[in-house]
Amino acid sequence: MIPESFKQDLLNRVDIVDVVSRYVQLKKGGANFMGLCPFHTEKSPSFTVSPAKQFYHCFGCGQHGNAIGFLMAYAGMGYVDAVKDLAAGAGLTVPEDTSRQRPKEERDREQDLYALMERAMEFYRAELKKSDKAIAYLKGRGLSGEIAARFRIGYAPDDWQGLKGAFADYDNRALVDAGLVIATEGKRYDRFRDRVMFPILNARGATIGFGGRVMGEGEPKYLNSPETALFEKGRELYGLVQAREAMRNSSRVLVVEGYMDVVALAQFGVGNAVATLGTATTPTHVGKLLRLAEEIVFCFDGDAAGRKAAWRALEVSLPLALDHKPLRFLFLPEGDDPDSYVRNHGKEAFERLAGESQTLSGFLLGELRADNDLATPEGRSRFLAAAKPHLEKIAAKGFRLQLVKEVAQLAHVSQDEAEQLLGMRSTSTYKHPAPARVQASPPPSLESKLLRVLLIQPKLTAELDLELFDQNLPEGRAVAALAVRCRISESGESLTQAGLIEAFANSPHAESLNRARASLLEIEMSEEVAAQEFRQIHIQRRIERIDQELPRLSGVELARRLQEQAELKNQRA
Ligand code: UTP
Ligand code: MN
Repeated sequence: MIPESFKQDLLNRVDIVDVVSRYVQLKKGGANFMGLCPFHTEKSPSFTVSPAKQFYHCFGCGQHGNAIGFLMAYAGMGYVDAVKDLAAGAGLTVPEDTSRQRPKEERDREQDLYALMERAMEFYRAELKKSDKAIAYLKGRGLSGEIAARFRIGYAPDDWQGLKGAFADYDNRALVDAGLVIATEGKRYDRFRDRVMFPILNARGATIGFGGRVMGEGEPKYLNSPETALFEKGRELYGLVQAREAMRNSSRVLVVEGYMDVVALAQFGVGNAVATLGTATTPTHVGKLLRLAEEIVFCFDGDAAGRKAAWRALEVSLPLALDHKPLRFLFLPEGDDPDSYVRNHGKEAFERLAGESQTLSGFLLGELRADNDLATPEGRSRFLAAAKPHLEKIAAKGFRLQLVKEVAQLAHVSQDEAEQLLGMRSTSTYKHPAPARVQASPPPSLESKLLRVLLIQPKLTAELDLELFDQNLPEGRAVAALAVRCRISESGESLTQAGLIEAFANSPHAESLNRARASLLEIEMSEEVAAQEFRQIHIQRRIERIDQELPRLSGVELARRLQEQAELKNQRA
């Protein structure tokens, strides 16, 4: 583990503008630097880097973080590697890990699941180097050491408590929470044993789960991490961090079904592939990918199961499809998956298949036609009825119009007739469409306002009345964590905003803190104003609290509280 003090020191010395400039062309614009966002495709710059706040934020896709976070997300580095990289640039040496006798403070930080997962990942990687069997298995599947390193592939040793080699406190509950250790009837043992380990990284490059493959026969073929506080299968895509650069270069992303498909494609030079994690494609998946690439190609096996999975991906995609971003469906020849296909036929052949793959409309109409005989009036009317629910789901106006025309032609009716039958009024509806549903964001809670204020003026935590704030909200919990942290360090160094963010970088509060910090990029708030707002937030909440109590009160008590409330209202700015 890297000492906290070292990280603070490091972040004080590096300039995020220098770090980001290594990868992204930035132009000065006012107090900040702007550029084209490296995390999604865009034509005008919404990616902002603030030298004063040592923070980046994209107003287009919402990615943000500090210099360490940037290297993790952009360059696909792990936390430790990102710190080492920055340290090297700043002429600092990262203090050595003294694993066995770490101070209590650092042992406490092990509770932190992100840190645990990263440690486990590094442990499995080190074990791979020691296992001839696992190395031979990966070589046998055609993978180079370079690709194994890129995907941080490891090996879980054939040992019921192998992780003792990485965690001195094997009884730590957090190991169970992280899904690494299984506890039953007083016994504890490693979930993953004698398996090749594929770490699953989130978009920021942190390890959040694993898939472990047996090397011979055995069930299950892939054992996956359970869903944990960090890992939700339907949201994550395997290989996203590694695919980012290739996705940007080719503007296309391939969605495949397996870990090995992603890795083998990368091995053969097709770097822009990601995989769903043993689940069907979800709207979250599609939404994420549409932000990152210009075109999505879903790859499925050519068998019945593959077509069924493709149909499901189509249904999920219809409401999300955009006029300017094509979605395609690639069906591999029977018996092949992307891994075997690219191995046997090479990169060019695979990319040709992807380029020639069916469009979403082609796939949709093809399936509907296969079920209905367009040579008979009965078949044609059934075809229209079958098309209806799908067309209704499409939100992209241009795309929907094209499909309606196509359907009309196939069913031998005019476009107007088709629209009547499909219950879509005349063409004029397309000229005056309802405004696209804008997600109105709710007004920020007092908790999130408070968090913002505390980031500007951490000292205020000393005057905080925590009782008043809702611990069910993530921002409320972040406020509480900040308060604890600031009290601990009261004696010592003064805490800077950047220091606080970094101290919580690998904690459950990171997201709330980053959101708060991102919102601060748009407002300048002096420490004085922050202190005023801090008091106003308390007043507002006390007034609300009294409102809630009133129905239960009567007599003198009621009068007293009403009086109190009136005084508070007087203090309200
Ligand atoms: P496949 O069974 O198609 O395996 O599972 P594969 O990707 O071709 O793997 P190799 O080539 O035999 O190594 C596709 C995906 O389904 C999930 C995994 O995510 C896998 O990559 N899966 C499969 C599981 O989660 N558990 C299993 O037991 C099998
Ligand atoms: Mn396979």
